Amino acid sequence: MHNSKIIIAIDGYSSCGKSTLAKALAAKLGYHFIDSGAMYRAITLYFLQNSVDLKDHSAILTALADIHLSFVFNEGRQQSDIYLNNENVEHLIREMLVAERVSEVAAIKEVRSFAVAQQKKMGKKKGIVMDGRDIGTVVFPEAELKLFMTASPEIRVKRRFEELYISNPNISLEEVKHNIELRDYLDTTREESPLRQADDAIVLDNSQLSREEQLEKVLELVKERQHD
Ligand code: DC
Repeated sequence: MHNSKIIIAIDGYSSCGKSTLAKALAAKLGYHFIDSGAMYRAITLYFLQNSVDLKDHSAILTALADIHLSFVFNEGRQQSDIYLNNENVEHLIREMLVAERVSEVAAIKEVRSFAVAQQKKMGKKKGIVMDGRDIGTVVFPEAELKLFMTASPEIRVKRRFEELYISNPNISLEEVKHNIELRDYLDTTREESPLRQADDAIVLDNSQLSREEQLEKVLELVKERQHD
């Protein structure tokens, strides 16, 4: 029997394990995994590097016209790295400096249109897992499977802390907690495509689920949606 390829949209708050699940799913299914947040982070990095005034719409449009984003598969990581104008910025975009400004940048209408247009193109051939905030609602409203991931605030802070600690041992739990709370607030209250659960999304609370349990659960859902 031949399974048809589908689109899997994964949305949710930051540090809910979306990327971890998306990556495992893509590997298992032989699909492409696209971390849409990396695009907003790379745009933020460019804006910071070039001191773009976030209030100046024409400066933003000029900057966007100069930004070329691409994803290149990294065999070592078994995941794509994001390139900003042909430079691998996968590590740079994870830094606190970018994390602190990214919600503000992601709330800009022109930035969203720029990113969403590229994301829609990536889904043309299906066989894709994309994670973000508006994937099931705006980017792929037609996705065959939509997941909305949640986890308890304590677990999310702990996960992000452990992730950031590797490159920055000076970071404090308090700082991480504050950044997560602020980003949740900005992501859910912004005017342009705020984070919200699509009506047909399936909620997955992974506070108590291991990675394997999550993958198993979701693979069942995928199976139900694939057909000849
Ligand atoms: O998933 P992440 O933490 O890397 O996302 C970084 C920021 O980008 C986050 O504050 C929200 C924003 N974002 C968005 O607005 N829409 C998306 N599809 C993905 C991320």
